[in-house]
Amino acid sequence: MDFERLLGRFSELYGSGGDCRKFFAPGRVNLIGEHTDYNGGNVFPCALNLGTYAVVRRRTDRNNRLYSMNFPELGIIEFSLDGMRYQPEHDWANYPKGVLVEFQKRGVELTAGWDMLFAGTIPSGAGLSSSASIEVLAAVIARAYTGASFDGVQLALIGQAAENSFIGVKCGIMDQFASSMGMKNHAILLDCNSLIFSYVPFSTAGYALVIANTNKRRELTDSQYNQRRRECQQGLACLQTRLPIKTLAELDVATLTANRDAISDRIVFRRVRHAVSENQRTLAAVAALEKNNLRAFGELMRQSHVSLRDDYEVTGHELDSLVSAAWLHPGCIGARMTGAGFGGCTVNLVAEDQLGDFIVRTGDEYTALTGLTAEFYTVSAGDGARELEHPDDR
Ligand code: GLA
Repeated sequence: MDFERLLGRFSELYGSGGDCRKFFAPGRVNLIGEHTDYNGGNVFPCALNLGTYAVVRRRTDRNNRLYSMNFPELGIIEFSLDGMRYQPEHDWANYPKGVLVEFQKRGVELTAGWDMLFAGTIPSGAGLSSSASIEVLAAVIARAYTGASFDGVQLALIGQAAENSFIGVKCGIMDQFASSMGMKNHAILLDCNSLIFSYVPFSTAGYALVIANTNKRRELTDSQYNQRRRECQQGLACLQTRLPIKTLAELDVATLTANRDAISDRIVFRRVRHAVSENQRTLAAVAALEKNNLRAFGELMRQSHVSLRDDYEVTGHELDSLVSAAWLHPGCIGARMTGAGFGGCTVNLVAEDQLGDFIVRTGDEYTALTGLTAEFYTVSAGDGARELEHPDDR
C-alpha cells in the first residue's frame, strides 16, 4: 500500500499535523467448510494478503469523520459517538459505527472520536469478506486507542455482533475470525461451536492458490443466506425429536441417513445433508493436507462444490461454469466456490508451471458459457489484523 498517497489524501481531507497511526485487516478465502459455521461445524479459511488499510488520528471532541478511497463519491461521512444508529446513507461507514456501538455495549468508554481514511485492496462484492475486514479493522483501531483488553477472538466476535445486530446480516463467525486471527502461510481449522482452533501450515509447493471472480453481481444474497439458516434450523428441530444433538455438526452422514425419515421435507433433508457431509469433508481435507496429500485435498474441494450445487443450491450458473471450466484443466487439482455463494469467487489449486495456460483457457471457457469475463488473482495466506509499525508491513 502506498502510504505516502494515503497520508497526502488524509491531510487534504482533514488537515495536517498530529499523530497518525496505520492499521490493516485482511479479507479471507475459505478453502473448505462452507455453510458449516452457523451449524456448529468446522471451517478452514485463511486470511489473505489483500485487505483494508486505515490511517487514523484521534480527535478531541466526540465527532467522527470517515472517508474511503474506494467510495470517493460518498465523500466524508460524519457521525457523533452519541446516539449512533444505522443510517442507510452512511453506507460502508455503518460497519465501523456498528463496531463502536459493540464496544460501548461491552462497557468501553469512548471518550473522543477519530478522523479515519480507509483504502481497500479486496475486489468489492466478490465474497472475499471486505465487510468483515472493515469490521475487524475498526475493532483493532478502537482497541488500540481505548486500551480495551479484548483478544483477537473477542475482536472477531465484536465484528460478528456488529454485522448481526447493527447491519442485520445473520452471518456466522468465520469471516471475522479469519480476518482477526489469520497467520502467514497457514490456514485456520476452526470449530465454530467451541471456537477451538489450530493453525495448519498451508504449503502448496508447486501449486498456486488462485481466486477467480465470476464478476456476477451477488443478488438476494442476504435473504437466501438467511433462508438456508432457517432450513438448517428446521432440520435440526426434526432430528432433535430423535437424537440428543445441539448442532448438526454433531452428526455423521451414516447417522443422518439412518434417521432420514425424521425429516419429511426433501429440501430440508438435502440442506442438512450438505451441512453434515461438508463438516466431515473439512476434517478429511485437513487430514489430507497434514499428510501433504494435495490431490486428496483437491478432490474434497470438488466434492464440496458438488454438494453446495446439488444439496445446498447456493452456486448458480456462473459459479458452476467457472468451476467446471477449471476442473477441465489438467493443471487444476481442486476448484470450488468460496464464501456464501450466489456469485462471487471460486478458489482453485493450480500447478504453478501451468498457471498462465489455466487462466487463459478457464477464462475463455467461462466467457463462452456465460458471456462474462472472469478475473484471476494469485494469493497467499497472510497475517491477521494489526497496527502497522514496520516498513516491511507496507
Ligand atoms: C458468509 C458468512 C459466513 C459463512 C459463509 C458460508 O461468508 O459471512 O459466516 O456462513 O458465508 O460458509
